[in-house]
Amino acid sequence: MQNRNIMVLDTTLRDGEQVPGAKLNKQQKVEFAQQLKRLKVDIIEAGFPASSQGDFQAVREIARIVGDSVSITALGRAVKSDIDAVYESIRIAQQPLIHIVLGASNIHVEKKFNRSKEAVLQMGVDAVRYAKTLLPQVQYSTEDASRADFEYLWSTIEAVVKAGATIINVPDTVGFAEPEEFGELIRKVNERLKNVNHEVLLSVHCHNDLGLATANTLSAIKNGADKIECTINGLGERAGNTSLEEVVMALKVREARYQCRTAIETTELLRTSRLLTYLTGLDVQVNKAITGENAFAHSSGIHQDGLLKDKQVYEIMSPEEVGADSMELVLTARSGRHAFKHAVQQLGFDPGTGEELEQLFQKFLELADAKKEVYDHDLFYLVTEHREQAG
Ligand code: KIV
Ligand code: ZN
Repeated sequence: MQNRNIMVLDTTLRDGEQVPGAKLNKQQKVEFAQQLKRLKVDIIEAGFPASSQGDFQAVREIARIVGDSVSITALGRAVKSDIDAVYESIRIAQQPLIHIVLGASNIHVEKKFNRSKEAVLQMGVDAVRYAKTLLPQVQYSTEDASRADFEYLWSTIEAVVKAGATIINVPDTVGFAEPEEFGELIRKVNERLKNVNHEVLLSVHCHNDLGLATANTLSAIKNGADKIECTINGLGERAGNTSLEEVVMALKVREARYQCRTAIETTELLRTSRLLTYLTGLDVQVNKAITGENAFAHSSGIHQDGLLKDKQVYEIMSPEEVGADSMELVLTARSGRHAFKHAVQQLGFDPGTGEELEQLFQKFLELADAKKEVYDHDLFYLVTEHREQAG
């Protein structure tokens, strides 16, 4: 069976940029969008143009500069002025997509809009109809879908699809869902959707409030989602969005299980993550999967020994696949003789045998106890000094 293609929408410049402290200027947004293009995302969500003149200008610049080969979208509420702003900012792109969001849960309908469910549903339909007079491609997001009453959610989806929506996005807006439940929701929506119009794409957008965004997104893919929305480094509102690098690598490493693929150029993942850190000043935790400082660092002696025999013993993907340097062995007091000897050799020394190697190893252990981590320059000095003393 052929693998299914999963479309990737990156919303780092919209949902990610909403985060306190993550504000980027126009130039920086364009630079990041250019990197997203190298990463080969399918769609860039460039901003929320109705929110400010600055955002409008940035979206328009991104559409102009990178919108030749990658689809560009921007977000608007289900009101004419927002949709106009989206359209005006992205129309220059080759494949522009209008993205409309409107609440679908009782709590949103009652507390945010204070209107009847029917009236809110009609707002969504009117918004899609209007957007379709401007562009052929329209995505509709049923905000807070994971907490919505299913039959109301479905009647909204059915109505906006009949009004012309080409992508239905089901968000877990507050990160409330858990994987089995979210997968089941997507399975049910998918089953009905494909009966109404099998050309409409089913998309998901998860938040990480319970640390489940990646798991929920993968569960949605298993249950029929055609498109996923993510951000680099998982940047986004509160605890963030689904981390693009995690889902993409999970699909790649476990391809036989998921039978899905993305077009992402995975060797650009680390560069994209580092660029975002540099531009926003927001660091990635050291143990973050795929892009953290320690994601490919091995420090225990047992692991280092195993890796030196065969990388597959402790590596499920190669660092090079995500654009990192080859695996890193961090020498500590727990590193064994095998890893120590390998590191000395890597520095260009003949590590010797028998007694000399043992003497060097004992000196290394003393140093590692004192310093915790031993770097190449420490090791270089240790070997050189030892050999000078020995004459
Ligand atoms: O979290 C959310 O519901 C959103 C929508 C605009 C997709 O960001
Ligand atoms: Zn969101």
